[in-house]
Amino acid sequence: MNFQEIFNQKPETEASAPGRVNLLGEHTDYNDGFVLPTAIPQRTTVQLGFSKDRQHHFYSVEFNDRASFFDSDRAPKGFGSYIFGCIKLLQEEGYKIPTLNVFVTSSVPIGSGLSSSAALEVATLKAVRSLLNLPLDDVRIAQIGQQAEIQYAGLNCGIMDQMASSLADTNSMLFLDTRSLERRVVPFPAGAEILVIDSGETHKLAAGSGYNQRRAECESAAQMLGVKALRDITDPQAVEVLPEPLRRRSRHVVTEDNRVLEAVQSVSAKRFGELMNASHASQRDDYEVSVPAVDALAAILQEIPGVFGARLTGGGFGGACVALIESGKADAIASVAIERYHRAGYKGRILVPNPVIA
Ligand code: GLA
Repeated sequence: MNFQEIFNQKPETEASAPGRVNLLGEHTDYNDGFVLPTAIPQRTTVQLGFSKDRQHHFYSVEFNDRASFFDSDRAPKGFGSYIFGCIKLLQEEGYKIPTLNVFVTSSVPIGSGLSSSAALEVATLKAVRSLLNLPLDDVRIAQIGQQAEIQYAGLNCGIMDQMASSLADTNSMLFLDTRSLERRVVPFPAGAEILVIDSGETHKLAAGSGYNQRRAECESAAQMLGVKALRDITDPQAVEVLPEPLRRRSRHVVTEDNRVLEAVQSVSAKRFGELMNASHASQRDDYEVSVPAVDALAAILQEIPGVFGARLTGGGFGGACVALIESGKADAIASVAIERYHRAGYKGRILVPNPVIA
């Protein structure tokens, strides 16, 4: 299916945005902390045309689904909620948005913790920016995308995913201070590359999930410690006064911020990998956002020679593991990992580096 077949016209413009994988700095962004994502090769592309009636029309190739909305309609569910949210937020910013035909195609895996929703938001916003010449920079695009996620998808998320999708590339990592939005491009450790394997356990983060609950716990902890956000605590000892589970939740955030800050000091691949392993343990034991399948996959990866470190990436409760591995060994390491993971009774698949690119 293409735009012409669905809408009987040619698209006026298009834009695309990548998914992301986070190397270190998990659940730190909504605590004003530090993150270290990179873009993945898989992208979402949004093509736009002007609708001929008073409704917006959306079509998703992957969902094989179409939906139509008046501006005054209630927010839809599913893929349309992100696009609808972006349009509504641009209108709230004061931009006049005509009714649109929107065609979406994506190779970003859904539910694997690689930010398919941020890629959709950023691609939609960049396509509308291009269509209407809106004076929005890439950071503003990320901020509006984050609001679409919070207000229309019900996930009280931080800014990492949308910043990564809007600004990161696949050749380096984006070191981001989520409080100031100051950022720096950081090379991968010498002699290393990344491998991403899906655990096969789809994650669902939005409303009712542990994600929003974790965020609320962090906010209570910050309040009890008398700081604006947990980012303001640097000594892990300081959280020892908190009641459980706030003590463990905060310990994860404080130690995770410290791990990111160490990782960007040009550390060796070996040290970077150790920080990733420690991050996994912290997510599993203190933050409790892992699941048995992901723990099994991380443990399998961590034991394979040539793997510097491996951890759960993304929001958690399922999703994928990212590993830092010796350059040039991706195929060999991935096939051993997948074979052992399947033998353990799970079903995984390799997402990076040999993805299907749309
Ligand atoms: C999801 C959210 C991000 C971030 C991660 C966890 O991907 O959208 O803002 O909080 O989880 O690091």
